[in-house]
Amino acid sequence: MNIQTSNNSLLVPSDFIIIGGGGDLSLRKIMPALFWIFLDNQINKESRIIICLRQKSNLEEFSSKLLPYCKQAIENQTIKKKNWSEFKSLIQIVVLDVVTGEGSNNLSLLVNNKHNLKRPCIFYLAIASSLIGHACNMIKKANLNFPQSRLVIEKPIGHNKSSAITINKKLYDIFEEHQIYRIDHYLGKETVQNLMALRFANTFFENQWDNKNIDNVQITVAETIGVEDRIIYYNEYGAIKDMLQNHLLQLICLVAMEPPSYFDADQVRNEKLRVLKALKPLKETEIQIGQYQGYDSELGKSSNTETFVSLKVCIENWRWAGVPFYIRTGKKMISRASEIIITFKKKPHDIFSKLKESKDEDFPNRLIIRVQPKEGLKLQLTSKAPGPGGMRFFPSELNLSFGDSFPDRLPDAYERLLMDVVMGNQTLFMRSDEVLAAWDYIDPIVTMVKNNPPELYVPGTAGPKDNILLHNGHVWIDPKGD
Ligand code: BG6
Repeated sequence: MNIQTSNNSLLVPSDFIIIGGGGDLSLRKIMPALFWIFLDNQINKESRIIICLRQKSNLEEFSSKLLPYCKQAIENQTIKKKNWSEFKSLIQIVVLDVVTGEGSNNLSLLVNNKHNLKRPCIFYLAIASSLIGHACNMIKKANLNFPQSRLVIEKPIGHNKSSAITINKKLYDIFEEHQIYRIDHYLGKETVQNLMALRFANTFFENQWDNKNIDNVQITVAETIGVEDRIIYYNEYGAIKDMLQNHLLQLICLVAMEPPSYFDADQVRNEKLRVLKALKPLKETEIQIGQYQGYDSELGKSSNTETFVSLKVCIENWRWAGVPFYIRTGKKMISRASEIIITFKKKPHDIFSKLKESKDEDFPNRLIIRVQPKEGLKLQLTSKAPGPGGMRFFPSELNLSFGDSFPDRLPDAYERLLMDVVMGNQTLFMRSDEVLAAWDYIDPIVTMVKNNPPELYVPGTAGPKDNILLHNGHVWIDPKGD
């Protein structure tokens, strides 16, 4: 059955003000997402995209820099001249230095001439977290903090709990929580949202979703790319702060949270917060860090920054006590694949035991949620091999491939999240208490591994040899590549 993927609705006229508009995030993610939303006829033609650049530039220069990124986002299809020039007509350039505030008058004049229209005025801070305070001061001084203003910021928010608290204070100096959108783009991914549908729009899985039925959960987010041109940033953060503190903890929350009463921003976030608060402090034997070979020479000096981390997470509540959540993420791994694998417990009694020649015919039930690429769900079952020869068993799969079921493309996470910002829907954004609770779990881990040099691993492999699951009677199930 083919299902229509999108429910195209025209957004209200809005101002998107991208501070750091010439940077990597803006060119690679934000602007291509806005271009797609525009191609889908969801951006109102009265909207404006105001690109704030530090260096003097003009629309022609900026748009020719942007064009290849937008082209890549639409899989190198030809962009019609008419579409590109209409999209370009929404863009305006302002030269602005957020540290000195130079240029803020021009921004203020530009934004103010439409602000009586009470249109959403979205400030997207595509800048380093150390500049967030400066940007907030600039917005305040330029009197751009209208009731309809919204602020979008990216993870990681701070580099530990205390710096996250400082950033929060700066945000609260001008905005209220309901105006702040903390992006974790994993929450905008289709399959990640589908995880909530799977759990809470069906009865089938929820009845099995606990320590009586589940043996262990594995979450792998593997990338084939290295740190590339972000090495200076990355070396300060490493995999624990860059991926675990946000994307992976959010995935754990969605797998483990209790059903909220309603699908509403605060109810969902309250339940996720409960999971974060129930995370058991980690022991030293429950974490392994690695670094791909060649990292030091990319950096030009020796470094203990981890490009791989794996750990055993335990959740201390009635539903999950005793179920290990094995989590790993790494760069320069064997394949690009993100999967959540739920392995169910063995059956209490096997009526076929006398018929089986070997234990290899005992296949646990597994639910595999493929986050990316080739998004989909698989349910692994045991079936009887057809034909004569008695009861012989083989693992079979119920396979729901989103690519096959949905003819349209799946929208990129940033498209969905930007539209939610315009619509004022915070469900898929992190609340400040969630961010702080995540740091509560992560800060001691960072201290714990600080003096342990990471184990080196060969690029293009599954990372260092496992030393965690081994001691728990489990093994990693490697996702299949793209
Ligand atoms: C970002 C991290 O948040 O997520 C990057 O900073 C990482 O290091 C990226 O590469 C992965 O995102 P995706 O959507 O490609 O899985």
